[in-house]
Formats: sequence, structure tokens, C-alpha cells
Amino acid sequence: MIPDKFNSISDISRQRPVHGGAVCQAAQQYGIKPSDWLDLSTGINPNGWPVPEIPTAVFNRLPETDDGLIECAQHYYQNPHLTAVAGSQEAIQLIPKVLSELNLIPDRPRVGLITPAYAEHEFSWQQAKADIICLAPGTIEKHLPDLDILVLINPNNPSGHLYSPETLQLWQQQLNRHKGFMIIDEAFMDCTPQYSLLPHTDFTQADNLIVLRSVGKFFGLAGIRAGFMAAHPVILKTLEFFQGPWSVSHPARYILKQALNDQPWIAQNRQWLMQQSDRLETLLMDFIQNYDQQANVDGCPLFKTVFTNKAQDLFEHLAHQGILTRLLDNLSGIRFGLPGDSQQFERLGQAINYNSCDLIRPFIKGY
Ligand SMILES: Cc1ncc(COP(=O)(O)O)c(C=O)c1O
Repeated sequence: MIPDKFNSISDISRQRPVHGGAVCQAAQQYGIKPSDWLDLSTGINPNGWPVPEIPTAVFNRLPETDDGLIECAQHYYQNPHLTAVAGSQEAIQLIPKVLSELNLIPDRPRVGLITPAYAEHEFSWQQAKADIICLAPGTIEKHLPDLDILVLINPNNPSGHLYSPETLQLWQQQLNRHKGFMIIDEAFMDCTPQYSLLPHTDFTQADNLIVLRSVGKFFGLAGIRAGFMAAHPVILKTLEFFQGPWSVSHPARYILKQALNDQPWIAQNRQWLMQQSDRLETLLMDFIQNYDQQANVDGCPLFKTVFTNKAQDLFEHLAHQGILTRLLDNLSGIRFGLPGDSQQFERLGQAINYNSCDLIRPFIKGY
């Protein structure tokens, strides 16, 4: 019954995209205990929203969708057409099924994506038997007439490339002329809300658009597995049907209602993230001058990416010192999440001191 290629669990897991945050795996691989790692391998805010004690009743009772969470989200995201999801990842997995259920896309849709980018979008469309068209940021407009679906991450992970709402609206209208769809993943948008499509979009009109939001990054709440999808009400209803009754847990909903309403924390945190991000960028810019003059640093307030053809060496060098970063799948760069405090900045600064890089090279496998 079961095809040969699925004859072991490891065969199945090897096919899924790889992600940052795998500290336990790194601990095993490099022989450094989990608590000794400085984990910079994700774009999660290192000083996330401070979760208060949660009453036991919240764990005891099932989640209810009319608990006021959607109203909080509507206010924070400035749009009335939203549904809560178990992380924007849940929406990424369900969107192909939803659009095909509603007959909004052909059987074998042509999906345009930027690479490198968060790989789960491509993976999800591959599972739906789509034809994937890899686009460079400068070629998107030219390809629009050939696409059934355009998927963009704004700002992009890992390049940080930001598209203006005006450009995206133009593309959405262009796609609409041949019944094309646009999916915008705004997982890292919270520090630059002026670039979000949500305050400008009436989804009852723009019914070929889906926007995703994550609370894992800016709010640092990746562990509660929650997020939001914005779209036309019929698309949202179909998504809810496939989600099932209790997709987002009661503790997650309880926490989010408070976090999304915490205006002082949101304002302070935006400012703090900008400062930390500038500090990280300065550190990395100084470093690349000595390490690789062809390299460049890009990113957004929640992460910085060093694009260098010596990325693998750098990744290994840092990992041997207990600093976990995200080596891009195509090995074209390394993404750094923000250090949480001055001590962590110092640790990273010492680790990327050029002389120490030079010292460790002879020990790096394959160097
Ligand atoms: C661009 C992007 N979108 C979506 C996600 C999924 O995040 P979550 O499911 O926690 O909302 C990630 C996670 O890293 C991401 O980088």
C-alpha cells in the first residue's frame, strides 16, 4: 500500500523545508549544550511581549471564536476581514486547498515566487502540483500576465526587500484582469505598518488578494502558534471550514487579546527593534569589510542577512562558538536574528572578529 519512497519516517521529514530555531539539533551536532547557545537563527523578537500568568480556566475551557479576539485584530491590523489561524504557517498550508475548493485557480496553477524566500510557500504549492516559476524582484511585472498566482513576502525573508502598497495594488489589479491571485505574506511587517496592504484594502472588492500576518516575529510569540489571514469573507469562511473547530488554542487567544491591545508596548518595541537592528547592521557592515569585500548586508528590523560566497565557513565558525545562525538553503548568505542585549552583542562581536575567523578555518570540515 505505502509507496517505497515513504518507507521510513526520515525519508518523509527530509522532504520538508529546513528552518531556523533548531537549537537541540545543533547542540547534538556541535557538542554544545542547548542552554549555552546564542540562538540568532530566527527572526523572532528576542524580547517578546511579556506573557502574564494564565488562569487555569483558560486551559480547561475550549476556545470560542466570538471571544473578542477578532475585534482586537481588526483594530490592530486596521481591516475588518480577518480570521485567526494556528500560525500563518497553517494558512500557507491550507490556501491551495481553499482556492481550489472555490474553483478560483486552475488544476495546475502557475505560481510565481521570489527565491530565496521562506520555503514553505513553494513547498505548499508543490504539494498542490503547481508549476513554480522562480522570479527575481526586478522581473515580477514582466511575468504577471503568465501567472495564476503571485506569492510575495513583504518585507522579504531573507533579503528584507520591501514593496510599496501602491506597487502591490497595481499588480493585484493587473492579475485580476486575467483572474490571477496575489498572496502577500506580511509576517515581518509590524515595524513598518505604513507598508501594509491591510489599511488600504477592501477585500469585498479586492477578492483576488490574501494577506497573512504572524504574531511570532514582532510580538515574539512564535510558540503559541497563532496568526491571521485577511481575505474576501467567502475565502475566509472556506478556510475556517478546513481549519476545523479549535485550530487556535484558548491560551493563544487569551494572550493575543492582550498583546494586540498593548499600545505602549507596541510603540516602545518598534523603537527598540529599530535601535537593535541598526546596531546589528553596523556590527555586520564592519565585519564584512575585513571578511569579504564582495559581501553585502540587507534585511529588515527583525533580522539582517549577510550575502557572501563564504557563508558556509562563517556559519561553521559561529556554530563552533555556540552561535546559531541561519545558513540560507542556496548557501548565498547567513541570516542573523537580533541579539537581545549588550552581552549578546558583545558575544557576537567577539565571535566575528576577523582574526578569530582566520584561526578557526583550518579546523572547519572541508576547508
Ligand atoms: C515569511 C514567513 N512567513 C510565515 C512564517 C510562519 O510563521 P508563523 O506560522 O509563526 O506565523 C514564517 C516563519 O518563519 C516566515 O518567515
